[in-house]
Amino acid sequence: MQTTVVDHPLVAHKLTMLRDINTDTPAFRRLCDELVTLLGYEATRGIRVEPVEVQTPVDVATGVKLARPLPLLVPILRAGIGMLDGMARLLPNADIGFVGLARDEDTLVASTYATRLPADLSGRQTFILDPMLATGGSMETVIRMLCYRNAASVTGVSLVASPEGLARLAEAFAEDTIPVRIVAGGLDAGLNNKGYIVPGLGDAGDRLFGTI
Ligand code: PRP
Ligand code: URA
Repeated sequence: MQTTVVDHPLVAHKLTMLRDINTDTPAFRRLCDELVTLLGYEATRGIRVEPVEVQTPVDVATGVKLARPLPLLVPILRAGIGMLDGMARLLPNADIGFVGLARDEDTLVASTYATRLPADLSGRQTFILDPMLATGGSMETVIRMLCYRNAASVTGVSLVASPEGLARLAEAFAEDTIPVRIVAGGLDAGLNNKGYIVPGLGDAGDRLFGTI
């Protein structure tokens, strides 16, 4: 598994604002949206393209367009929805699948309550969106779903990751034949005894959509 923690002053600046307890929901949503477009730039570095020619007002230009089959975006409900618009703006032709997961507050184990994914992902590059990579259980669950469906590659995009979560994924996908990559905006110190990332930003789903 490959891990990239994006080192860029704009990412650090926006992430700091996102963490701030005084950032209200509208600003939190806007910052998530802006951050995912910055992280998406890095996450899509390996996106497949094919040559194409276009006519400019002056001459013919040789360029590229996204290759088929088109990529698949998979936000993990709920909080991943806050990253969907920004990523879809970068990849407007991508298909979108959904996985709903809820983490048990005591066991920290994520259970699946919704799955809407294509049955066959052969040849398709896939991107999982989830702002928080804490124990890594949610990300691992969805990576496995996409690998099982034969995805060509899986890239998980998170705003904040923990060392524990990354270590878990590195172990789980050490031997995998499908390339797995994580792109994160920040790597924090660790998890507290409630499984929250420290310093983190609190509960991303609640800050985006309100407390359940
Ligand atoms: C949160 C967060 C991630 C998950 C990360 O979701 O949005 O999906 O926890 O934790 P993990 O790495 O330990 O699995 P939660 O289950 O609270 O649901 P929500 O998005 O609906 O708030
Ligand atoms: N989920 C969150 O929303 N925040 C954390 O810190 C950990 C899991």
